[in-house]
Amino acid sequence: MVYEATASAPVNIAVIKYWGKRDTKLILPTNSSLSVTLDQDHLRSTTTSRADASFTKDRLWLNGKEEVIKEGGRLHTCIKELRAWRAEEEAKHPNLPKIAALKLHIASYNNFPTAAGLASSASGLAALVASLAALYELPQSRSDLSRIARQGSGSACRSLFGGFVAWREGHAKDGTDSLAEEVAPREHWPELQALICVVSDAKKGTSSTAGMQATVETSPLLQERLRVVPKRMLDISRAIEARDFDEFARITMADSNQFHAVCLDTTPPIFYLNDVSRAIIALVQELNRASEAAGNGLLAAYTFDAGPNAVIYAPAANMPAVIAAVDKYFPQANAFANPFQVEKAPLPAGF
Ligand code: ADP
Ligand code: DP6
Ligand code: CO
Repeated sequence: MVYEATASAPVNIAVIKYWGKRDTKLILPTNSSLSVTLDQDHLRSTTTSRADASFTKDRLWLNGKEEVIKEGGRLHTCIKELRAWRAEEEAKHPNLPKIAALKLHIASYNNFPTAAGLASSASGLAALVASLAALYELPQSRSDLSRIARQGSGSACRSLFGGFVAWREGHAKDGTDSLAEEVAPREHWPELQALICVVSDAKKGTSSTAGMQATVETSPLLQERLRVVPKRMLDISRAIEARDFDEFARITMADSNQFHAVCLDTTPPIFYLNDVSRAIIALVQELNRASEAAGNGLLAAYTFDAGPNAVIYAPAANMPAVIAAVDKYFPQANAFANPFQVEKAPLPAGF
């Protein structure tokens, strides 16, 4: 008997960024964060987990290439915790098949660039946790699973929810209250759309994990950021509740700018944006200036994660103008086809 389950999770793009850990092992953040989970299929991780008596060790393939599951590492922690929950269930319900003791093969595919600043660790670790929770038929809630996903990659805890999602930093030393929750469902503000501008699909030079640790250790400006984020969390939650795009856009751009400022304030400095990223900022700025001069509100808001790729949020009614401007200044063949879509994730040889 082969036990197998597949799950998929979407990317989420933070508008209030998580950047800094107060506990690197449990992945407890220095500040709360808030994101929008993308609801289309363009940026997703799909993960298949299999338990079988013939397997001799836990193995994981990412985009067809085997990765090591390091003892005590993040993947190892997630697998260990989910397996322990399954073992508890098996102890409570003796007729459940004994699969907690079996080794696992896990294969995951991202249909977009991995480690390029498009939040692959968020969708990736969320899909891993979701696929193991499905394989083990765990009764745990999404919040419980978000606590586990958080220990795989902080931003992953938010990808287990759709719509507008907050990750509350929490105060407990053991991390029990550091988890994600939905602030508003996607349907609350369906007009809000996201345009993903892939500036580079190359793997970034500094991983988010290493980058934020260096910031915590060396950036004096981070202290100022930690002082202003709580009010931003409240203000942007209110803006979302009121579907107030102007306020949402102002806070989103300010937070992206401040996040990249603390990266620059890190020693040695971290540069995630490049010239094209900065040109996109200038373009959005100009579109907003013209829109306000014409007596309208802001047209769009940019935000950049730890990479050069832009995410532009705008109400659906403004999106044609945003796309036309991006297409005009950054012309490309096939600009709006998704070049990363794969039909079906193939399983690697040896799986
Ligand atoms: P990103 O900006 O893409 O989130 P990070 O530096 O935060 O970049 O994390 C990238 C790392 O996340 C990858 O090197 C890999 O270890 C892990 N990762 C990405 N996708 C997956 C996945 N589908 N399954 C498991 N791990 C993944
Ligand atoms: C800039 O969640 O990738 O995307 O917890 O070390 O895996 P680890 O880092 P990660 O950091 C995300 C940083 C960010 C902002 C955000 O998503 O909130
Ligand atoms: Co990441």
